[in-house]
Amino acid sequence: MDDAAGSDRDVPLIGRAAELDDLDDALASVSAGAGSIVLLEGEAGVGKSALVDAIRTSARLIGLEVRIAIARPARARPFGLIAEAMLGGDRRSQPAGPVGSASRTAGIEGELVSLLADADADADVDADATRQHRLPAALAARAEELAAALVRQRGDREPWLLVLEDLHEADDESLAVLYRLAHEGVVPHALVLATLRPAPRSAELAAVVAAWTRAGARYLELRPLSSHAAVKLAEAQLGASVGTSLRGSVLTAGGNPRFVTDVVRAVREAGALRLTGDGVVDAVGSAWTGGLDAVVVSRVAYLGPQVVQLLDEASVLGTSFVMADLADLTRRPVADCWRVLRHALAAGVVHARGDRLVFRHELVRSALYNRLDPSVRRALHERAARTLDAAGAPDAVVMSHRALAE
Ligand SMILES: Nc1ncnc2c1ncn2[C@@H]1O[C@H](COP(=O)(O)OP(=O)(O)OP(=O)(O)O)[C@@H](O)[C@H]1O
Ligand SMILES: [Mg+2]
Repeated sequence: MDDAAGSDRDVPLIGRAAELDDLDDALASVSAGAGSIVLLEGEAGVGKSALVDAIRTSARLIGLEVRIAIARPARARPFGLIAEAMLGGDRRSQPAGPVGSASRTAGIEGELVSLLADADADADVDADATRQHRLPAALAARAEELAAALVRQRGDREPWLLVLEDLHEADDESLAVLYRLAHEGVVPHALVLATLRPAPRSAELAAVVAAWTRAGARYLELRPLSSHAAVKLAEAQLGASVGTSLRGSVLTAGGNPRFVTDVVRAVREAGALRLTGDGVVDAVGSAWTGGLDAVVVSRVAYLGPQVVQLLDEASVLGTSFVMADLADLTRRPVADCWRVLRHALAAGVVHARGDRLVFRHELVRSALYNRLDPSVRRALHERAARTLDAAGAPDAVVMSHRALAE
């Protein structure tokens, strides 16, 4: 009866009124002539791009031109991000600037296009498996200068919005352009809106963020949705109220809209939705959770195998755990565990509460736990029982691990 809740539907932006207001204000000040930089940071799937989509619509409504580029490491080329924003998708083609743009700008665009096209042609000749494209230093310096001038002069024509998505994936050359721009101050007549995850954070990106901060950038941290908003999101996607069981599953997403979406999709695709009352749908059974676990585990794979493996082991200790216990459980020095887990901490998958670490999304912990090989899981519970017993944990906790070790 998976029809009970309709199919995928476009849902309005939920629970982001304050952030939208903030960004609308920034747009208004840009259309009045000021320049502004906003860094929109938040964990994977928290809704940065969804917010960007909404603000792009607002920008169009007030007549601002929007330029947008998304950093993707798989197609990283020198100046790739900036070129996509300023020259259009295919920078071997002619400049994408409006017809009749100032000839000074057209000249800069032309020189930059041909410089990058030459670099691409050379790179194609000696492209190796890692696609290491490198411009000779003098040409890179010139391209950097041109690209920065292009961004800066773009506002001479009219106010505009420059969106740079996923800055944590940007090529180093584009970051160098942004660094240079930051040192010259805000870009006149432009709202520069950059999105980024808290991790990974290269030294180059950290330098750009620091430089922009000094130049007066506003920092907007996008927090997970409230429980209320997360349930509303699921209800909007389903076109119905959610029953108790499904509500419980939605809440394990820790307010992360991507995980909420994953829960809704998993239950729908498994045909486990049932109408349980007037306009209320719920999930039945637990067969649908296997598919969800696989999706959720794939969502955290970007942290790398070392981090995921340690999180696997930590999942046995429960939603929150003491670092020293994890070290004992895994027979590693605490410092070693810390060195690995700080990446999960930076990415927002776990957070610190005193000397405890807490899984931010129970959904992630249970997905990692469920996919452990049963014999490995039992052995980990056995070791957890001994570790926690030695550490003075209550008998009931030790016993529950013993029970799961059988
Ligand atoms: N406030 C919201 N209301 C409704 N849907 C949302 C909201 N925020 C996010 N979504 C939906 O959740 C999913 C994940 O959001 P989004 O892609 O914007 O995350 P992100 O922060 O950009 O993630 P990434 O770091 O991977 O780029 C998308 O399907 C998006 O449409
Ligand atoms: Mg995004």
